[in-house]
Amino acid sequence: MTLDPHVWPAGARRTDDGAIAVAGVDLRDLAAEHGTPVYVLDEADFRARARGIREAFEQAFAPLGTGVDVYYAGKAFLCVAVARWAHEEGLRIDTATGGELAVALRAGVPGADIGLHGNNKSDDEIGRALAAGVGRIVLDSLGEVDRVADAAARAGVRAPVMVRLTTGVHAGGHEYVSTAHEDQKFGLSLAGGADSPAMAALRAVLARPELDLVGVHSHIGSQILDPAGFEVAARRVLELRALLAAATGHLVREVDLGGGLGIAYVPGDVPLDPARLAKDLAGVVAAACADLRTPVPRISVEPGRAVVGPTTLTLYRVGTVKPVALDGGGVRTYVAVDGGMSDNLRPALYGARYTAALASRRGSADTVPARVVGKHCESGDVVVHDVDLPADVAPGDLLAVPATGAYGRSMASNYNLVPRPPVVAVRDGAARVLVRRETEDDLLALDLG
Ligand code: LLP
Repeated sequence: MTLDPHVWPAGARRTDDGAIAVAGVDLRDLAAEHGTPVYVLDEADFRARARGIREAFEQAFAPLGTGVDVYYAGKAFLCVAVARWAHEEGLRIDTATGGELAVALRAGVPGADIGLHGNNKSDDEIGRALAAGVGRIVLDSLGEVDRVADAAARAGVRAPVMVRLTTGVHAGGHEYVSTAHEDQKFGLSLAGGADSPAMAALRAVLARPELDLVGVHSHIGSQILDPAGFEVAARRVLELRALLAAATGHLVREVDLGGGLGIAYVPGDVPLDPARLAKDLAGVVAAACADLRTPVPRISVEPGRAVVGPTTLTLYRVGTVKPVALDGGGVRTYVAVDGGMSDNLRPALYGARYTAALASRRGSADTVPARVVGKHCESGDVVVHDVDLPADVAPGDLLAVPATGAYGRSMASNYNLVPRPPVVAVRDGAARVLVRRETEDDLLALDLG
């Protein structure tokens, strides 16, 4: 019955009759008005996490005197309202595609407060980023140096760029989300120091007057729960920065240490504390710069999941309940809901774990081992692998799955031509649709027959 505060949105409460409300909105009312499945986003929680992470980094880095910027990584979840909230709370916006850039600009975020990433940016994306006057374009390959420089020449601007470094640090929750070991597609390796691919790209940038080399960038992975990887990566990046300065006289003024802060998904998980990470990183940066005898750079970080992940739950309606006998004896109750891998791909793609709770009433005290599954045509369509649910769980019940704010809606698909659910924000007892529900007409509108 209790809702673990690490896992559930800050505004989630049990009602007197055992249902769940978020920010004063009873999920039964929300389902009646907006239907299911639906992503329910706690606005105050989003703002508090965004602000909290920014303040933690600002406090930790204040003694270093060079300042710190927190970018919200829009890939975790971006819509116009969320981009605006993040910016209002003092964050900048990190985008990875033209689509994310368009949403940030529509939200009114000034170009200077936007960064553009991507390992395979199109000319159109580069051109639009330059036209918007983005604060930085993060270069991911040697070939991109000339492409961005040529685009800047055509646009008559000087492009602020960073170079993404591969630090050789292997961190993160799953191989698919680890990004800085050597054998993967992102960044330029700094192994080899002066002779590294990273150094070649940095020199190439310095050779093009249309480019302003503002910094170097490192992102080591996602869903990281141990700060050690960040510390090793920070040191390696600062070493390369010093090497570049010694070799060329150019000391880059900024270092971005990426995102990846891990969150709790199931009760008992301990999230990475942003305040602790910020303190650790401030210590490492100060010590490394002292050792290297280089001035401290301005630092930036790019969390996505830690800002939005825990703020959102997905509300489903139960359709079918099926006891299935297990090989080794015993029974598992398969609880099928009206969504699934089209609204949350993470269990199927990464084996990600979630929890679930009955949200529309108080369940029986006795529980059964259950698996929450979706409505898609494959057996990997699992929402929650293992969870104890009240034994009387039944068709018509509402089931809430927390911590779905990051990479849920943003990786949603139309598999089996299932329309994607809406995102509804709750705040002070009121609900507001941020992204409307897709309809079958939307899907048919794309189909030209
Ligand atoms: N910066 C860069 C350059 C990134 O590639 C990423 C994530 C972030 C920041 C934000 O990372 P976060 O703080 O959200 O961990 N779909 C996967 C996660 C992919 C992350 C990709 N890059 C998942 O659902 O776990």
